[in-house]
Amino acid sequence: MSHGRTLSVGLVGIEGHLVEVEAQLASGLPAFRIVGLPDASLAEARERVRAALESCGLTLPTRRVTANLSPAAMPKSGSAFDLALAIAVVATGHIPQRAAAADTVHLGELGLDGRLHPVRGILPMVARAVAAGHPRVVVPIGNLEEASLVPGAEVVGAAHLGEVFARYGVRTIAPTILAPPAVAPDPAHRALPDGDLADVVGQEEARLALEVAAAGAHHLFLKGPPGAGKTMLASRLPSILPELSDRDAVTVTSVHSLAGTLVPGDGLVRRAPFEAPHHTASRSSIVGGGSGVPRPGAVSKAHCGVLFLDEAPEFQVAVLQTLRQPLESGEVVLHRANATARYPARFQLVMAANPCPCGLSGSRCTCGGGERRRYLARLSGPLLDRVDIQVPVPRVTRAMAAIGAAGEQSAQVAARVQLARERQHTRYRDVPWSVNGSAAGTWLRHPDQLPQAAARRGLEKLVDRGDLTMRGLDRVLRLAWTLADLAGDARPTPTHLAIATTLRMGDPHA
Ligand SMILES: Nc1ncnc2c1ncn2[C@@H]1O[C@H](COP(=O)(O)OP(=O)(O)OP(=O)(O)O)[C@@H](O)[C@H]1O
Ligand SMILES: [Mg+2]
Ligand SMILES: [Zn+2]
Repeated sequence: MSHGRTLSVGLVGIEGHLVEVEAQLASGLPAFRIVGLPDASLAEARERVRAALESCGLTLPTRRVTANLSPAAMPKSGSAFDLALAIAVVATGHIPQRAAAADTVHLGELGLDGRLHPVRGILPMVARAVAAGHPRVVVPIGNLEEASLVPGAEVVGAAHLGEVFARYGVRTIAPTILAPPAVAPDPAHRALPDGDLADVVGQEEARLALEVAAAGAHHLFLKGPPGAGKTMLASRLPSILPELSDRDAVTVTSVHSLAGTLVPGDGLVRRAPFEAPHHTASRSSIVGGGSGVPRPGAVSKAHCGVLFLDEAPEFQVAVLQTLRQPLESGEVVLHRANATARYPARFQLVMAANPCPCGLSGSRCTCGGGERRRYLARLSGPLLDRVDIQVPVPRVTRAMAAIGAAGEQSAQVAARVQLARERQHTRYRDVPWSVNGSAAGTWLRHPDQLPQAAARRGLEKLVDRGDLTMRGLDRVLRLAWTLADLAGDARPTPTHLAIATTLRMGDPHA
């Protein structure tokens, strides 16, 4: 036998592709080549495969060995093909269970000592294998839990290459395994902020803004002096957002699997993510990047959840500009020399800012009017254009705090948000969006959807006087629909329109 084959899966973005791994022996000087558009990391795979085989007492055949990964046109990268390469190479000789080895999908990185190291992106890889009709998958033991989340997968976890060979009847020297490689939790991982809305004193308008933002998935801008509670409010948004649907949960878990930010043992991600990058964050940590196959950035980790830019004007302008693409299309496209990776990036943008660069409020502020304008102008254009709600967050005075009744708890608000979302899903069954925050202007302004004439009159007056642009009108309508959904009304009422006008009026340019 001089030909061996097995299966693996490669990822482009979070999309998996079945890869056939074949090895062929030919006469000639002993050599080991890998073909099929490999990048630099596949060259290293050669050395890992050679050393790992030796750790099992096996050696590369003393002939010309050529391993081929196909389809060749699919860009490949990373170390997850190691295991499949080792199996295919050994299958060029005698393997008792050859058919089983050929029909099983093998994923995992090999250590020089033959141990199997977990790899990122196991969930989308296994999902692809199952969808392609190959449910039998061997993964590193450190990935077993995540791989088992995929319905229909028949997953086997292995700590050492020798264990995998044993399954196919290949006798190897018994490896001495000290311990399976640990899954290193990513230091960048942050748990969701906890804290309840009941902790927030006063701030009635900002609380309403937060509830409306959650219910309609509207982008939100909180503006106010230091210590007013902007960060506190924003970090309570996850506590009132609805759970992810099954489909979204799989996508979000896949993204975090690739980013290395899954918490082992937590299963599928069910809660809406909350990503709060620091204002010193680099462009690639926000939109994604890195050498080889680019990794998802904060905008993708925030998919189906919240991207929170605290102290938003402090971010580099270049970084803020890169948010334009995901805000428009709901995804990020990262180009590399031989690969284009797409990652989903449909997030709810929440920004917080002081009104001026000095951060001191009131009479202590020494900033000139020009300085203040320039400061917030950094957010204008692509970002503020898409923000439906701009809400002032004033400092809570002691008197306000004293009279402020204990605020409502997150659970109560979350229940209203959930109902409002269900109404939107029903209404938007047949259109491409599912929340008010993404509703198209043409739909909002269609005669069938416009509020009753009486309710409209106030708005028309604002437009006629030039106080409201067409874009501003769309925002008011979007917000009014969310207010109606929260109230359980079939259509926005004059009151909803009035409140909606107030919620977006923080924006003088609308
Ligand atoms: N409305 C409020 N209710 C209860 N506590 C508050 C409120 N506002 C502020 N605080 C308290 O003040 C602290 C600072 O609030 P927070 O960090 O949210 O302010 P901020 O508006 O983000 O300020 P900065 O602009 O400096 O970031 C909070 O940790 C909280 O203890
Ligand atoms: Mg803050
Ligand atoms: Zn100032």
